[in-house]
Amino acid sequence: MSDRSSSAQQARLLAQIAQLEEALQQSRAALEQAQDINRSISAALIRSEERLRLITDTIPAQISYFDKNQIYRYANKGYSNWFGLPEEAVIGAPIVQVIGEKGYNSVKHYIARALSGETVTHEYTMRQKGKLVSARSTMVPELGPDGVPVGCFVFSFDITETRRMQAALAQAQKMEAIGQLTGGVAHDFNNLLTIISGNLSILKERHPHHRETRELLEPALQAARRGAELIKSLLSFSRQQPLKPVAVDVGKLVADLETLIRRSLPASIQFGTRLPSTPLHSRVDPGQLESALLNFALNARDAMPDGGRLVIRVRPGVLRKEQAEAHELPGGPYVFIEVSDTGCGMDEATQEKVFEPFFTTKAFGRGSGLGLSMVYGFARQSGGCVTVNSKPGKGSTFTLILPPAPPSHATADPVDEQAPATAAPGALVLLVEDEPDVRRVVRQQLLDLGYPVLEAENGNQALDILTHVEDITVLLTDVVMPGGMNGRELARRARTNRPDLHVVLMSGYEEQAALSQSETPHLRLLGKPFSKRELARALQS
Ligand SMILES: Nc1ncnc2c1ncn2[C@@H]1O[C@H](COP(=O)(O)OP(=O)(O)OP(=O)(O)O)[C@@H](O)[C@H]1O
Ligand SMILES: [Mg+2]
Repeated sequence: MSDRSSSAQQARLLAQIAQLEEALQQSRAALEQAQDINRSISAALIRSEERLRLITDTIPAQISYFDKNQIYRYANKGYSNWFGLPEEAVIGAPIVQVIGEKGYNSVKHYIARALSGETVTHEYTMRQKGKLVSARSTMVPELGPDGVPVGCFVFSFDITETRRMQAALAQAQKMEAIGQLTGGVAHDFNNLLTIISGNLSILKERHPHHRETRELLEPALQAARRGAELIKSLLSFSRQQPLKPVAVDVGKLVADLETLIRRSLPASIQFGTRLPSTPLHSRVDPGQLESALLNFALNARDAMPDGGRLVIRVRPGVLRKEQAEAHELPGGPYVFIEVSDTGCGMDEATQEKVFEPFFTTKAFGRGSGLGLSMVYGFARQSGGCVTVNSKPGKGSTFTLILPPAPPSHATADPVDEQAPATAAPGALVLLVEDEPDVRRVVRQQLLDLGYPVLEAENGNQALDILTHVEDITVLLTDVVMPGGMNGRELARRARTNRPDLHVVLMSGYEEQAALSQSETPHLRLLGKPFSKRELARALQS
């Protein structure tokens, strides 16, 4: 080979090496670029995963994923918290280990359905730190490329509060229905008792010295009076008692009641109060509030036969909108009165029934079961509510929640301030009552008291008589009457022509009477059944 040809070959080789080196460099650059891209993709992936984690941990839901072998592969914070476990304890663990044998047995058929490709929703209740909690859970299967489920997503929501609200609302509605029923029955019984006690009283007065008066009439009259008391309790449960609400300084009322309460408790029961440092007013009937507090105290006494502690606490508080709705009240500030004892407490079934009339666990003759139903009626009629919180063996807390009121100087009912004119015996009375038997009894009572009587069956008849007989001084009328015109309307029309007319409304339907009282404070009210003496007082007050 000549020198020339060998150097040409060398030059070609060098050129090839240079080409190879350039290609190598290009691939290195491409590789670096690819690595860069890879790095930013993983960073983006990590970022997106972190974001997802933040979202799933923040939303108020429990989210998890388990594979077809029922092993958890993912769980958000809410999910592990729900079962009281750290996150690491859930991921990689079998379902049964996380939710427990009992829980697993109650959901395993839902899991099987979800793992066969069905979306399943179910609700369950379990114990969490001693409390019962409820959740609604949806399992959504994840399908593999062949369409066969490879695992399952779980989305659960805590519905404990919603369930509690629904139960409270249902309870309030049930009490409302019982109240209406009771109110209706009480109304009818009032009329019957008016007839019974009215007639018995007349008989007694006619034969005061007859042997049988004492033996037969007196017990019957007493029974009728007891019946009237019972009706009164029922009316207060059904929110139909006449209330005289004024602005009451609740702390002061409780302080004034302390001695009386302490006296009604044995020495083995410690009694204390926790009252606000500044006055806290509620617009309620003070007498009814006192009797509600006494009822609580006596119940607490009965719940602590071996002694214990009773505390009455008064404080301002707020009913959140959802809480308030469960009691059909507007949300906002209220006055809270909490009465707590360390007595025998109650199970949940008892707590659901305590406010129902005639519910008692006390021995026959020891309790009528009307104490708390009266408190319930009073609280509701006052624009508030009453709740109970109790545990068997741990004691009970009853909370009266009453509407707040600005302080007012008015302490007496306006009705008492504007007492109507009096009508002395001898004054002509127009008696308006649709029930003939009631009318007969009241007429007799009026005659016995020395009042001459004219009678009418309804409002129109009464107006007719009023225009023709000028001497009528008193209009004594029933409130609830058939025929379109009630007692209130009759009173209003009669007064238009005869402003000096003395009007007395008789009513068994006390709520209506109470309402009319605030509308027409110049009218006298007489709750049925009434005695002759009460009738006389209403006419001559
Ligand atoms: N503080 C309490 N601790 C435990 N149980 C209570 C308490 N207060 C009420 N109860 C239960 O609620 C029931 C109803 O109470 P409520 O005051 O309505 O009627 P009562 O006390 O049985 O009879 P009454 O008050 O008419 O004499 C009671 O029988 C009792 O079982
Ligand atoms: Mg009681």
